[in-house]
Amino acid sequence: MARKLILDVDTGIDDALAIAYALASPELDLIGVTCTYGNVEVDQAVRNSLAILELFGRTDVPVFAGPQRDGFEVMEISQFIHGVNGIGEAKLYDASRAAEQQSAVDFMVQSVHRYGDDLVIVPVGPLTTVAAAVEADENFASRAHIVFMGGALTVPGNVTPCAEANINQDPEAADFVFRQGEDITMIGLDVTLQTLLTTVETKQWGDLGTAGGDFLATATNYYIKAYETTAPHLGGCGLHDPLAVAVAADPSLVDTLAINLKVDTDGETRGRTIGDETCLNDPVKSARVAVGVDVDRFLEEFMRRLTGLARETPVV
Ligand code: BDR
Ligand code: CA
Repeated sequence: MARKLILDVDTGIDDALAIAYALASPELDLIGVTCTYGNVEVDQAVRNSLAILELFGRTDVPVFAGPQRDGFEVMEISQFIHGVNGIGEAKLYDASRAAEQQSAVDFMVQSVHRYGDDLVIVPVGPLTTVAAAVEADENFASRAHIVFMGGALTVPGNVTPCAEANINQDPEAADFVFRQGEDITMIGLDVTLQTLLTTVETKQWGDLGTAGGDFLATATNYYIKAYETTAPHLGGCGLHDPLAVAVAADPSLVDTLAINLKVDTDGETRGRTIGDETCLNDPVKSARVAVGVDVDRFLEEFMRRLTGLARETPVV
C-alpha cells in the first residue's frame, strides 16, 4: 500500500520538482501540500503549488497555508536562484481553486493522528510549520515520521559558511523539532549536492512538446543557469527537494548516520546542524543523516518519473 505523504514546500523550483516526483511515485499517496515561506512568501508558494498541481491534473490534492515568520522578506539570493515568482519566471495559469480554509498546522496534526505510521511528512523548506505542529499537540513529535531537506553535516552551508538555506530561515524551529522529534531523516547538502541535473536532461522534457514538459524545462533551466553563477564547480543544479521525496519513497537510496541532532542558534555558527554533544552517549538516536546517495539510481528514477508525468500533460 502506498505510504501517505504530506509535502511541506516553499515553492521554489526544486520544490516544484519535488511535487512532480511525489505525483509520479506509486509508493506515495500525496494527501496534502502544505505551504511555507522561504524561496517565496507563503501566498506565492500556495499559488505556485496550486498551479503546478493543476498542470499535472491533480486538483484532488488539497493545499494548505502555513504561518510566515514575522518580518520575513525573500532574500535576494533566493530571487536570483528561483526567480521573483519562485518558478524561474515560467508562466503557469492561475489555478481554478483556492487553498483550504484549514491551516497547515491543523492539517499536519490531524493527519498524524489519523494515519500514524502510515504517514510520512516531508518538509523541504524552513521547519516553522512543523515546529508549530509540535507546539500545538503534545503527541505530534513522538508520532510523526519526518524526512526533511535541509542542513549540512559534512559540508559547508550554502547561505553562510555553516548554514543551509532552510535551516537558516528558522534555526530555532529546526532545533526544537530535532530535540522533540523521534524519527527524523535529514537529507542535507551532504547528499543533495551530489545529485545534479544539466540541460542534457532538461532537453528531454522540452522535446516532449507538452505543457508539463515545457514547464519543467523552463523552470529547471533557469535554476541551472543560476547554479552556473553561484556554484560553477558543481556542473549542474542540486536536486535538493526531490531527493527528500525520493528517500521517503525508497529509503535505500541513501546511507545514513544515526545521531542526535541540534542546531546552533547563537553566534557565528548560527544555523549549523550538528550532533548534540549532551546526547552523544545516549543509545537512542532520534535522527539519521544521509551521508551517501546512490546518485545513478536516483537520477534514473528522477528522469523516468518526471518525464512520464510530463508526457501525460496536454500537447502544446
Ligand atoms: C533548499 O533551499 C531552498 O532554496 C531549496 O528549495 C531547498 O529546499 C536548499 O538549500
Ligand atoms: Ca525548498
